[in-house]
Amino acid sequence: MALKITVIGTGYLGATHAAAMAELGFEVLGLDVVPEKIEMLQRGEVPMYEPGLEELLRKHVAGIEGSSGRLRFTMDWAEVAEFGDVHFVCVNTPQKHGEYACDMSYVDAAFASLAPHLTGPALVVGKSTVPVGSADRLARVLVELSPAGEEVELAWNPEFLREGFAVQDTLHPDRIVAGIRSERAEKLLREVYATPLSEGTPFVVSDFPTAELVKTAANSFLATKISFINAMAEVCEAGGGDVVKLAEAIGHDDRIGKKFLRAGIGFGGGCLPKDIRAFMARAGELGADQALTFLREIDSINMRRRGQMVEMTREVLGGSSFLGKRIAVLGATFKPDSDDVRDSPALNVAGQIHLQGGQVTVYDPKGMENARRLFPTLGYAESAVDAVRGAHAVLHLTEWREFRELDPAALGEAVTDRVVLDGRNALDPSVWRAAGWTYRAMGRPTA
Ligand SMILES: NC(=O)c1ccc[n+]([C@@H]2O[C@H](COP(=O)([O-])OP(=O)(O)OC[C@H]3O[C@@H](n4cnc5c(N)ncnc54)[C@H](O)[C@@H]3O)[C@@H](O)[C@H]2O)c1
Repeated sequence: MALKITVIGTGYLGATHAAAMAELGFEVLGLDVVPEKIEMLQRGEVPMYEPGLEELLRKHVAGIEGSSGRLRFTMDWAEVAEFGDVHFVCVNTPQKHGEYACDMSYVDAAFASLAPHLTGPALVVGKSTVPVGSADRLARVLVELSPAGEEVELAWNPEFLREGFAVQDTLHPDRIVAGIRSERAEKLLREVYATPLSEGTPFVVSDFPTAELVKTAANSFLATKISFINAMAEVCEAGGGDVVKLAEAIGHDDRIGKKFLRAGIGFGGGCLPKDIRAFMARAGELGADQALTFLREIDSINMRRRGQMVEMTREVLGGSSFLGKRIAVLGATFKPDSDDVRDSPALNVAGQIHLQGGQVTVYDPKGMENARRLFPTLGYAESAVDAVRGAHAVLHLTEWREFRELDPAALGEAVTDRVVLDGRNALDPSVWRAAGWTYRAMGRPTA
């Protein structure tokens, strides 16, 4: 009989995973502790913006006309335990307040809620990003708290999906990493992922610590690549070089590659910043802090970019104060094709300028609601044109396609001064300059 799957925690990762598992043909039951989320999902509505996810959800949620009916949601732990052969844990692992370390309380709570209901054989699969050593500890917790004892096993299967491509990445992952301790666990995971495996997705089997470390190592590498090119941008600014040309040129070396070499205001979001910090904190606990001191520099190069964007804005506005200046901010989310504003560099820059007396108006295609909730005192507009009306400077801070397709000539009619600062190096300077704009970008010559 086909495996039955549960997904615990239906946020960005879990909602996508649940819909993808239904798409792969499994009966799926999703659980969350937030009633509003469950009610929305039951109606086939996605609590966040992720391209293609709502369609996939509606294709499978029970009760929606024409759906496969394979996907349901609940808040009942006993129902989840009773239903599932395989339980995926996808809850959040944020940064602790006032510390670098990972807050494991949500993962611990999920295990503590599920385990006492597990009365028969089951595989619990951790997908959340956790500090190395967590799986070993949680495996013991499971055995201790589950009536089924040793019949309940743990596997660690980190997730690599990218917001904006989450559906595609979940259905067709570039690799599947399985931290396991038994042949049975491997067999079950191979069964869950039979479709992507048949398409040739590599399946990397490891012990628990390696599986946990693969995720934090991958994110550390990506963060390093971004901060590397941003460090080069700083040197280009000082020495008069052009970081975009530099990135193009070094990217031709396929040992380096072109991806993730776009200089700008740096990375943010719910993963990279907190993951590299949690990694440093954990290495410290293990006595290996020296190995990761470079991540401190990666983090500070990244955070410095936001301040530099503020200073570049101040400079184009005359070099002193933001008082009486109108600044339009295009973009609020930490990346395009998402509504996620967690640790968004764009909102951080907008917030700093606002706090220094600038009149900031933000527009984002999908992130307005989340941005308003986080920064209620900023000004918001319903379109890019409305945001730039009367502006003394326009800041391009999230690289949505919509912004690349703006007509600089038409936009120029709405502003007070045709000054654009490209915080993502994603606009075409020649087009903007041809339309009479002063175009400035990070790590590039001024004219
Ligand atoms: N978002 C991404 O792109 C991404 C990619 C790879 C890995 N991850 C990792 O996946 C994990 C989840 O990230 P996310 O972005 O989906 O977070 P999220 O905050 O969007 O979702 C987490 C969900 O878990 C729920 N939850 C919290 N405590 C719970 C509990 N005790 N029982 C059941 N549900 C509970 C929350 O209500 C929320 O809906 C994190 O560890 C993250 O680092 C995220």
